[in-house]
Order: sequence, then structure tokens, then C-alpha cells
Amino acid sequence: MKDTIIIIGSNGQIGTELAIALRKKFGVSNVITSDIREPQHRGSDEIFETINVLDKEGLKKLFVKHKPTQVYLLAAMLSAVGEQYPQKAWDLNMNGLLNVLDLCLELGIKKVFWPSSIAVFGPHSPKTAAPQYCTMDPNSIYGISKLAGERLCEYYHAKYGLDVRSIRYPGVISWKTAPGGGTTDYAIHIFFEALAKGSYACFLSADTALPMMYMDDAVRATLQLMDAPAENIRVRSSYNLGGISFTPAMIATEIKKILPNFEMSYIEGDPRQAIADTWPESIDDEYARKDWNWSLAFDLPKMAEDMINNLKNKQ
Ligand code: SER
Repeated sequence: MKDTIIIIGSNGQIGTELAIALRKKFGVSNVITSDIREPQHRGSDEIFETINVLDKEGLKKLFVKHKPTQVYLLAAMLSAVGEQYPQKAWDLNMNGLLNVLDLCLELGIKKVFWPSSIAVFGPHSPKTAAPQYCTMDPNSIYGISKLAGERLCEYYHAKYGLDVRSIRYPGVISWKTAPGGGTTDYAIHIFFEALAKGSYACFLSADTALPMMYMDDAVRATLQLMDAPAENIRVRSSYNLGGISFTPAMIATEIKKILPNFEMSYIEGDPRQAIADTWPESIDDEYARKDWNWSLAFDLPKMAEDMINNLKNKQ
């Protein structure tokens, strides 16, 4: 059967690039993008629909109209913005997911992708090589909603047989679309400002290590997970994905190798530091490697070089 895909939240950092990759793979007319607002740029043959994922009736009409076989739900409020609007973050992240899961059951849509995050870990999770299964006590509203979402995904799979698949994305680094209010965003801002101003004032401390991943790897991982045979998918909550672990000081050093005059400074007291301090520094992704052959392509030097080249070409 031919696949038809709907991406919800397609204007965001990950949605934009997943849409490109999915259109390449399944054909432009078989991938419908949707978001709460029209995208800034849109190809003439691309199908886009305006939708608020919290509008369940509207969402149902969208699904009935396009009859998707797969839904990618990327609309979410991230960690830093979530702390400013906890109620809204909970509502969007939870009820958006419930609307999609319930409509997929009701309409017989079999396959769903939903992203989780390293934010599901908390202060009592292991700091290094955080394993798939361990203490999880997230204390940001974003992390709490993602952990609850993971439980829902596993529940809908176990109880109703819905083929829901998920990845705990590390901080995703990219140049095409700006990130939307996360704690890991410094690792993107730094590149833009290194090229625009030659300096960057970082809101995390020099030694705050966090797991990160280049967008090319994040997109490839997503397609690989969605392509894997269902019987290989042992984790129905969300897969750990390790990525590259680095600190602001390490990425600054890497940028200096390419832009020797780059200067880094640090701002103390940013509320995002408290969020970062509760997340692991590194992640163990043995389940992803075993179940669907995951392996990383971009290390820190390769990513920094690619980011700078792409941003220079964009200017
Ligand atoms: N990049 C996200 C954030 O910082 C983590 O999933 O909120």
C-alpha cells in the first residue's frame, strides 16, 4: 500500500527538515505538512494545511480528508518556554498527543511517530551514559509531559496495538530553521553569532555537558526507526539516542579552530542552567543500536564544520 504521511508541527526546527526528507522518500504529494500557521516558504506542489493539534474536530477532518497511513506529531512546547507557560505546555504536549493517538485508533491509522527528549531524565538519573531504563524524575514541565507521553505511547501500543514509535532526541543542532525555546539552543545560537558577530555570550556555564546531535543524524535516525520491522521494536516508550556529548567550552574550542578570532563569554544566573543541571551529560543508546542498527555519523568537529559551511553559504 502506498504511504500517505501527515506531519503536525511541520514549521518547527525538526518538522521542517523531516518534511524535506519524507517528501524525498515518499514523494511530494504523499506528504502533507500542517502547522498552526502557514509556513514562510512553500513549494507550489506541496500540500499544507493549517491546524491546531488541540482542535480535535479539525484534526479529525484533516485525517479523514487525507487518509494518512502515518502521522508524525512534532507540535510541542520545549523546556525553556515551557517553564514560562507550564499550563499551556502541559496542555499542548499532553492533549495534542492524546488527540492524535485517539484519532489514529478511531480512524484505523496504524503508524505514529512522536518525539520524546533527554528532558525525561531528572536529578536522580545517572549523569553519564544514562541507560534506557533507570530512575526518571524530570522536574521541568516539558520533561514531565514527555515522560507521561512516553507512558501513553507504550500503553496505546500494549492495549490497542497502535504502532507508535519514538526517540528521546538529544539537543538537535541545525541551520535551516531556528529552534523553538529549548535549553540546548545555545549550541545553535553560538554558530549564528560566531559568524554574525565573532562572539557569543553563552547562557550555560562552560562545563555544562549535554547530549546533542546534528540534524542530519536526527532525521536519519527517525527514518531508520520508522522503517524498522515492527517485531524489532522492543522499546515502545521512547528510544535513547546518544549523539555527541560536549560542553560550551568544547564547542567554543571547535569553532575557534575554524574561526580563530571567535570569543566566548558566559552569563550567570540564566534559568536554563537549572534545567540543564538535571539532565544527563551523556546517554547510552544500546537498544537503538541493537534494534534498528543505529550509528552516529557526525562527531563534534564534523558537525561544526558542516554548520559553519552551510551558514556561510546561506548568508
Ligand atoms: N532541545 C530540547 C530542549 O532543550 C530538549 O529536548 O528543550
